[in-house]
Amino acid sequence: MSARIQTLGILGAGRVGKAVAALAARAGIDVAIAGSADAVDAVVAADAVVLAVPLGRYRSLPAERLAGCVVIDAMNYWWELDGARPDLDDPTTSTSQTVAAFLPGARVVKALNHLSGYALEELARPAGDPERIAVAVAGDDDEAVALVAGLVDALGYDPVTAGTLAEGMRFEPGTELFGADADEEEARAMLERFWDTQRGRVVARARGGR
Ligand SMILES: NC(=O)c1ccc[n+]([C@@H]2O[C@H](COP(=O)([O-])OP(=O)(O)OC[C@H]3O[C@@H](n4cnc5c(N)ncnc54)[C@H](OP(=O)(O)O)[C@@H]3O)[C@@H](O)[C@H]2O)c1
Repeated sequence: MSARIQTLGILGAGRVGKAVAALAARAGIDVAIAGSADAVDAVVAADAVVLAVPLGRYRSLPAERLAGCVVIDAMNYWWELDGARPDLDDPTTSTSQTVAAFLPGARVVKALNHLSGYALEELARPAGDPERIAVAVAGDDDEAVALVAGLVDALGYDPVTAGTLAEGMRFEPGTELFGADADEEEARAMLERFWDTQRGRVVARARGGR
């Protein structure tokens, strides 16, 4: 694997897929994007593949084709869009763990989910800019996490590593970091405070601890 993402595949050509595609193109990264009716060959051949489809449709993803790929899960459980899905709201499992369980062999990293598509495009800043904000990155595969952190940096955000896929729960919808324009230090503090929130207590209780 190269140390830097040079080609990026995107599954889902909607609001967030197009925003990530625009940012990546701006960063000089070759992009292949596919909607639900498009061929995915170029997408799955890329250095990493962003999942930007409605989470409720994750079972329509080409699981076999994604085996071995670094997969960036940018999806959220959004009940207005996905409908009531208790399986996606289970405090024992982060949604990225659910996605990873459906994608055997994929190296799933959660990232690019907690800012809106609009914010992603508008708030990107070069490294060192005082207005630069943070994007959290979580996963179980350290090498894949480092690769995705490099991508986040290239797209215009300070990457904040946020633990395992299970801990990715700390920047799902409804958390303090979700939708926040936070710099690196603020983002770390928000992630840490998660356990003192109502949702954090529910999650810790359901899991028998953190
Ligand atoms: N909107 C945001 O600001 C934002 C920000 C961060 C994260 N997210 C998350 O990103 C995901 C996408 O949100 P969105 O707002 O971009 O949705 P969207 O605008 O509705 O776009 C979703 C796209 O995914 C396509 N799609 C569905 N199943 C597919 C498949 N199996 N393979 C390839 N493409 C497929 C759809 O194509 P068809 O129309 O042909 O079905 C559509 O183009 C959601 O999980 C959302 O929670 C959204």
